[in-house]
Amino acid sequence: MLKYIREHLGAKLVLANLAVIIIGVIVLAITIQLIIPSAYDRHLGNASAGTGTGSGQGLGQGAGGPSGAQGTGRTLFENFRAGIFEAFGYAATALVAAALLVSLFLSRRIVAPVRKLTDASQHIAEGDYEKRVKVQGVDEIAQLAGCFNHMAGQLEQAETLRRQLIGDVTHELRTPLTSIKGYMEGLVDGVLPPTPETFNQIHQEADRLSRLVDDLQELSRVEAKAFSLDVHPVAVSSLVQTTLKRLAPQAAAKRIDLGSDLPADLPPILADEDRITQVLVNLAANAIQYTPEGGRVTISAGQHGDEVQVAVTDTGIGIPPEHIGNLFTRFYRVDKSRSRGAGGGSGIGLTIARHLVEAHGGRIWAGSEGEGKGSTFTFSVKTC
Ligand SMILES: Nc1ncnc2c1ncn2[C@@H]1O[C@H](COP(=O)(O)OP(=O)(O)OP(=O)(O)O)[C@@H](O)[C@H]1O
Ligand SMILES: [Mg+2]
Repeated sequence: MLKYIREHLGAKLVLANLAVIIIGVIVLAITIQLIIPSAYDRHLGNASAGTGTGSGQGLGQGAGGPSGAQGTGRTLFENFRAGIFEAFGYAATALVAAALLVSLFLSRRIVAPVRKLTDASQHIAEGDYEKRVKVQGVDEIAQLAGCFNHMAGQLEQAETLRRQLIGDVTHELRTPLTSIKGYMEGLVDGVLPPTPETFNQIHQEADRLSRLVDDLQELSRVEAKAFSLDVHPVAVSSLVQTTLKRLAPQAAAKRIDLGSDLPADLPPILADEDRITQVLVNLAANAIQYTPEGGRVTISAGQHGDEVQVAVTDTGIGIPPEHIGNLFTRFYRVDKSRSRGAGGGSGIGLTIARHLVEAHGGRIWAGSEGEGKGSTFTFSVKTC
């Protein structure tokens, strides 16, 4: 019972009303008890004394009521009524005062957390995302305060991410823009010769910029979950073949041995073929990008329960253990100095891959023995 009251605001309000009524009745009873003798003496006692019959008789005559005998009887009745009204007047005043005090106290206790919530929400509306409400008790208002704090936490996190994103995007855009500006200034000043090679460099920087903008657009789309999946059974071998074909030129350019190792009896997976190919191409492109010339990149797959795990293993630069957990965070790069221009990227590819795999209900993770020992990126997707 106590637990129920503690957890329900409705029960607390009913109890508060009940308390006001009970306290009111007690105050009424006590006041009447205190006032009645003096009121009696003032009205009925005096009237009885006037008739010379004493108080006992006075009452006896008064019992005749308003329709009783004229003169003394009417006087007694009127005095009796006046006595009652006087007692009631005092009692009612005391009751109203007591009820007001108790109601004020109780409503303050109930309204106080709502006020705190209003105050905190005003702070948040003004951009102060650190504001929280102290949660006391377990009733609906305490639950509301808990939800409010959770919402404030999420907003604060979103705001931090937004600021971080703007900072990161600005940084990423500045690098190629500075480069293009440098080339142009060199051309204008005559320091750089206007040769096809110079124009080609400018074109490459503009191309990087354009790819970065495309990636950012894709990132915002997948992060906002603003894409739909056309899910149907897909043969893993077919998506591996597509990936190998698409990346063959890049692998050949770096003399990397790009191949696959698939068991024959692999069940089809339930996926959006284009999206899951995008994931695999992303992982394999990374493997080629972060593997020195002459290395090897292998795509393998295997069934584990009701899912198929697809892995891309390379003999590349590897990943130090402290970085493994952050690779799927946007703009995260192990080697910050490797920008797109220096053979690195902007740290968006794996974030997009993670969102796409998670949209399929799967997982994606990385593993590496350490620097220089290659790495393996694996994702899982449910079978049909
Ligand atoms: N196969 C790999 N071997 C070693 N490091 C890797 C490998 N794949 C990814 N990484 C590390 O993870 C980081 C994030 O990879 P991600 O694909 O998200 O971004 P990126 O390759 O830097 O740029 P882009 O957005 O152009 O793909 C890379 O910068 C790199 O440091
Ligand atoms: Mg990449």
